[in-house]
Amino acid sequence: MTKHKLIAGNWKMNGALQANEALVRDIAAGLNNAACTVAVCVPAPYLAQVRALAQGSALALGAQDVSRHAQGAYTGEVSAAMLCEFGVRFCLAGHSERRQYHGETDALVAEKAKTALAVGITPIVCVGETLAEREAGQTEEVVKRQLAAVIHVNGHCISEIVVAYEPVWAIGTGRTASPEQAQQVHALLRRQLAAATPHPERVPLLYGGSMNAANAASLLAQADIDGGLIGGASLKAADFLQIVAAAGAAVAG
Ligand code: 13P
Repeated sequence: MTKHKLIAGNWKMNGALQANEALVRDIAAGLNNAACTVAVCVPAPYLAQVRALAQGSALALGAQDVSRHAQGAYTGEVSAAMLCEFGVRFCLAGHSERRQYHGETDALVAEKAKTALAVGITPIVCVGETLAEREAGQTEEVVKRQLAAVIHVNGHCISEIVVAYEPVWAIGTGRTASPEQAQQVHALLRRQLAAATPHPERVPLLYGGSMNAANAASLLAQADIDGGLIGGASLKAADFLQIVAAAGAAVAG
């Protein structure tokens, strides 16, 4: 597969003004001629800082969440229009930590994706099963249900989104899905997209869950793995850049 890859970092609730400076400068400096798209999804208070630090580089800016509402009395929420004002290009929607700790439903996640698309931000919709669901043989059913809600609400715009398959049991655990396990689910998601859009190949399908410099190449070599959503390893410039390099090599190879 020689498709252009997308590598997105998800800082989660990590960062500090001073530490961000070195991290972003080092990542941006390491992206010269990177053969893939690279983004970092940062906590909302750091959007302005990271935007300024990344200016002039190939590093794209991402957010970790967006409100379903356009504006108004929604204390604590951040609107898509606000993200736009800070040059945000990507926005996570339905990360498993939001589903788990904030009760985000499939329907809400689908609305969030729609809200992002409406202002020109590319939503990175996260899907994935828990360990209990995998062990109960429900992986297929769960990820299909999660993606179906997004397809239902977004119609033909579905070709404009990014999907990240993040098995919950692989997030932050050091336990990665094997390339075969990940590919199996990615192929399933691709088939589901094919029923909804004439161009399913245009929807980047990212893998996330303990992806690191050592395992990135074998995951990114899979036919339907178009990139990665990186948590822990995106907080160290050298590790993140090694994953970016692996993505570039996967395309070249
Ligand atoms: P880790 O890479 O730390 O497992 O996190 C993955 C993730 O949740 C990215 O969104």
